[in-house]
Amino acid sequence: MKKLLAQGAEAKLFLVDSRIQKNRFKKTYRIKEIDDKLRGFRTRREAKVLQKLANINFPSPKLLKNDGKENLVIEKIDGKLVKDVLDKNYKKLAVEIGKKVAILHNNSIIHGDLTTSNMILNKEIYFIDFGLSFFSDKAEDKAVDLHLLKEALESKHYKIWEKCIKIALDAYRKEANMASETLKRLEVVEKRGRYRAKKGS
Ligand SMILES: Nc1ncnc2c1ncn2[C@@H]1O[C@H](COP(=O)(O)OP(=O)(O)O)[C@@H](O)[C@H]1O
Ligand SMILES: [Mg+2]
Repeated sequence: MKKLLAQGAEAKLFLVDSRIQKNRFKKTYRIKEIDDKLRGFRTRREAKVLQKLANINFPSPKLLKNDGKENLVIEKIDGKLVKDVLDKNYKKLAVEIGKKVAILHNNSIIHGDLTTSNMILNKEIYFIDFGLSFFSDKAEDKAVDLHLLKEALESKHYKIWEKCIKIALDAYRKEANMASETLKRLEVVEKRGRYRAKKGS
């Protein structure tokens, strides 16, 4: 059984026999060679990050298949999107989000799209959608990641976002290596303006 779950700018997500297939479909407005390269690159990179996450036991979907071109099959994570439950329970969840972003950063992983639609609450919070992720230890990259989290909270959780980001950053500070450098850099990043990564570009 194959059922379309979600279609984003970049990929279609199917439920196939209780697993998730992520297909980066062709973009006909791109030159074919460039499109093939980009989709292949992003598919392989997401696979690589998911493998590293499995190695460090970070709550994220297990990688089940990777064709190296446009398809990943990953484990389905049951639960609700954090987007839909954050407002009710933000004090606890914001601590967990801050800690978990710190763990990613401590392992040189920049998520690249830290929104509450890319987090699923099961017994704990699982992070998904590593399609824009990359490996880096730079304070700048970590700061931009945190800045995107802030923007995402501001746009989807306007009633609680200020309290939420404060709680998350406090938790991040306690857990992250080089936290003071990164949080200092965050102030610089905030002054510069917009960073939302462009999907589908
Ligand atoms: N492993 C997964 N388990 C459960 N649901 C998922 C999983 N991966 C994706 N989804 C669902 O599909 C949506 C889109 O997937 P995502 O990987 O975020 O792709 P994109 O945002 O690039 O379209 C998610 O917001 C989530 O609702
Ligand atoms: Mg997503």
